[in-house]
Parts: sequence; structure tokens; C-alpha cells
Amino acid sequence: MTQRTPARTRIRESFNSRTVFILAAVGSAVGLGNIWRFPYVTYENGGGAFLIPYLIALLTAGLPILLFDYALGHRFRGSPPLAFKRLHRHAEPIGWLQVGICFLISIYYAAIIAWAAMYTWYSFTQAWGDDAESFFFTEYLQYDEAGTAGSGFSVDFVAQVGWPLIVVWVVLLIALALGVRRGIARVSIYAIPVLFVMFLLLVGYSLTLDGALTGLNALFTPDWSALTSGSVWIQAYGQIFFSLSVGFGIMITYASYLKRRSNATGSGLVVGFANSSFELLAAIGVFSALGFIAVAANTAVDEVASSGLGLAFVAFPTIISEAPASALLGVLFFGSLTLAGITSQISVLEVAISSVKDKTGWSRPVTVGLVGGSSALISVVLLGGVSGLTVLDVLDAFSNNIGIVAAAFIAVVAVTWGFRRLDVLAEGMNAYGSIKLGVIWKSLIGVVLPVVLGVLLVMDVRAKATEGYGGFDTWVVLTFGWGALALVAVAAVVMTALPWRSKSALHAEALQDEPEAEKSPDRTGARD
Ligand code: ALA
Repeated sequence: MTQRTPARTRIRESFNSRTVFILAAVGSAVGLGNIWRFPYVTYENGGGAFLIPYLIALLTAGLPILLFDYALGHRFRGSPPLAFKRLHRHAEPIGWLQVGICFLISIYYAAIIAWAAMYTWYSFTQAWGDDAESFFFTEYLQYDEAGTAGSGFSVDFVAQVGWPLIVVWVVLLIALALGVRRGIARVSIYAIPVLFVMFLLLVGYSLTLDGALTGLNALFTPDWSALTSGSVWIQAYGQIFFSLSVGFGIMITYASYLKRRSNATGSGLVVGFANSSFELLAAIGVFSALGFIAVAANTAVDEVASSGLGLAFVAFPTIISEAPASALLGVLFFGSLTLAGITSQISVLEVAISSVKDKTGWSRPVTVGLVGGSSALISVVLLGGVSGLTVLDVLDAFSNNIGIVAAAFIAVVAVTWGFRRLDVLAEGMNAYGSIKLGVIWKSLIGVVLPVVLGVLLVMDVRAKATEGYGGFDTWVVLTFGWGALALVAVAAVVMTALPWRSKSALHAEALQDEPEAEKSPDRTGARD
């Protein structure tokens, strides 16, 4: 039934249906984290043994926080700062911390999408030739000593990196400017099914390659000693948060576009399992292909890539050149990476856009231009040049392993013990949810997670503070690592101090669904 609302009240945008919401949320979750990050994090953290901390992190942290984020977004109908503000009047800065982390991620995430798009094109001719490693670092990225951990730092523009990056940003900003239904929903409706078909073909193909079994053995043979390393556990939790898009505002934002009477718990579990299935499928596909190249080169699987970060852009091109139907394999792999990246980057940016829009009352196109435009500008300046890989590596390590974990820690501790609102979140979810959140969920959020995340955080901060990171110069780590995180914290305080566009906005939009008349023809599920 159409609701009458006062003229001054702005109605919150919403997804057309629950199906569309699930597609968008899966689009957000399934991203570079699944295809680019998971294989190299697995590779660097004990190979197959990494699956154990990964699965534990999924069950103890990933899924519970996914439902926590959904509960916040769905119950309080707002971007992270607004949802936290509605939860408790002092909770707003937590939302801005999440926005800041998304902003940092958006800066480097776009660069990897641009590399993947360029490599889709290169796949037709195998432009990387016989030496994919030196092509990627030296010829493509032009990443020389001046741009590495060495003495120099330069942002000299590299055409084959910078231009695709600009094009990627234009596509992203247009999709976001079109809004939730015409932009985000529409991209997800088309991109996700195509991505799944492409990826299934890719994995099916990889499994037929000679040596696939060798790769799968390497993946599934656990090296138990990795389980005693603290950093392996930190990576597992960081990976789960990043991969599921939880703990940094994305799922709060998307759930705020769900209609009131939605089964958010059911949707959350569908998204969580879809994401992990995709990630495991990605691991199977990637390791089968690595097995193929290892057997061909007569070496061990863990020897076939020399740099974790470059795994997708070094090992895969080599595999593509050696495999039958090379161009097809290349287009399937790098095309999947590009599509998966675009749908996730849209969700990362939407957090910042929706938050600034909620706070200032600016229109969507203006907010996209200002917020998305600034991220694009920083991204092109810092990552379109020869030092891009350095910035990317440091930003990724600090925003994930410290930023996301810290934001998740602060959120669960504050909501459970500071503001004591965990029951409210559970009630909101249980009102329409098919699976009830009870004592197990509350114990995981309120007791297990604060302990686990707190320990991981202290360990990681201590390691980075005493040992630095990745052998990079101290000033590089101070600027793009610690400096970037400090900036996020300061920005959170400043943004909280700014006034809301109108006090009534804090309440008026809370419970309104978009009027039926504005619905698109997709009417799946009257009671979402
Ligand atoms: N969840 C997104 C990914 O996996 C951010 O890449």
C-alpha cells in the first residue's frame, strides 16, 4: 500500500526486490578478494593449510558479522554513520571509520580492475610473451627501483595503466550516479549471471588440464605448522572480512536499501554461502591451473609464482600461453576478474556516497561527483604511475589487516558492551527473518569476536610497528599505511562534528519504503 509522507521527507532508495538485493550483495561479496586476493593469500600462508583458519574465520566471524551488518542496515535504514547514529546518539563515528576504510580501499581496488581489463585485452595476443613476470613488473607497470621500496618515489603517469584506470572510473561513476535501481541493481542483474557462467566455464576448463590433480593436492594437503603462526590467522580473518564485504559498512549500506518486511537473515546466509562457494571454486580453478604449469615446468606448485601479489598477473598469463585455447582461457579469467571487481567496487564506493548524501542532503549526482571524483583523482595520481604497486601493497595491507579488523572490533564491542543494543539488532532481524538470531549469535558477537579480533589486532599492530611492512622504506609505510589510517580516524571525528542537514532527517526516513508507484516492473516477492 502506498504510504503518504510529508513533502519534506526524503524517501530512502531501495532495491526492486529481495532477489535483486541478493544479486547486488553477492556482486559486492564476490570480487577481487575471491579471485585475485584469495589465491595469493592462500599461497603465502601455508597453501592448503590456510583453508582451516579460513573456514574457522568464516564461521566465527564472517557470517555472524554479516548478519550484524544486515541487522544494523535493515533495522536503522541508513548508511553506516546514520545507522549507527540511530542506534545510539554517540555511535556515529564508528560509521565514519568504516566509510574512511572504504574510501582507502576504493583507491587501489580500481587499479586492479584496470589491470584486469587491460589483461583481458592482452589475452588475445598473449602480449606478455615468454616472460610474464618481467612483462608485468617492468614493461606493463614500469615498476622499477625508483618506484619500489628503494630511495625514490615517483608518480610518473604510465599510459597503459593510467588510461584504463580512467576508463574504469568513468564507468563506475556513471553506474553510481544512476542510483540504486537504475545503476547498482541493473549492473548486478546483468553482470552476476554472466560472471557465474564465465567462472564455471573457467573452473571446468582448468580441471581438464594435465596436472590439475597435482595442483589440487597442493591446495588440499594441509601443512599443520602454518596453524601455529599468528600472522596466518590475521590473514584469514582479514581475508574473510574483505571477501564477504563485512565489517566496513558495505552490507549495512546495502541492507538499508532492503524493504522493511524482508527476510534479511535468510538473504544473509545465501550471500555468505554463495561467496564462500565462489571463493573455494576460485581456489580449485586457480590451483588446478597452477598444477598444470608446475607439471609442465617440472617444478613444485608453490614454486610457480614468485610474487604473491602478482600471482594473477604472472602465473596466470604463463598458464594462458601454455594452455590449449589460450585466448578463451585469458578472456574467461581476466574478464571474470574485471566483472567481479566492478560490482564490488560499486558497493565499496556506495558506502561513502550514501553516507555523505545522508549527512549533507546533497543530490546523488553531486555526491558521486565530489566523493567518487576525489577517490578517482587520488587513485589515478597515485596508482596510474610507476609507484602504483607500492601504494597498492601498503594500502591493501593496512586497510585490511588493521583497518577492517579494528573497525569490526570497535563496532562489536561498542554495540554489545558500550551501547548495549545487541538485543535490539536481534529483534529487528527476528521479526521477519526465517532463521532466528539467538544466544549463539549473541555470544559470537559479544564475547568470542571481541577477544579474537582484539588479540589479532594487537599482534598485527605490534608486528607492523616493530618490523615495518614488506621491506618498504619507513616513510612509505608511514605515509600510505599508518598515515592513511590516521587520516581516516581524524576524518571520522571531523565528519561526526559536522551538523546533519536537518535534525528531522535522523528520524523521518527511518521507516519509509520507496512508494510502490516508483517500482520497476520486477515485482518478485510482494513480501520481501
Ligand atoms: N568483497 C569484495 C571482494 O571480495 C570487496 O573483493
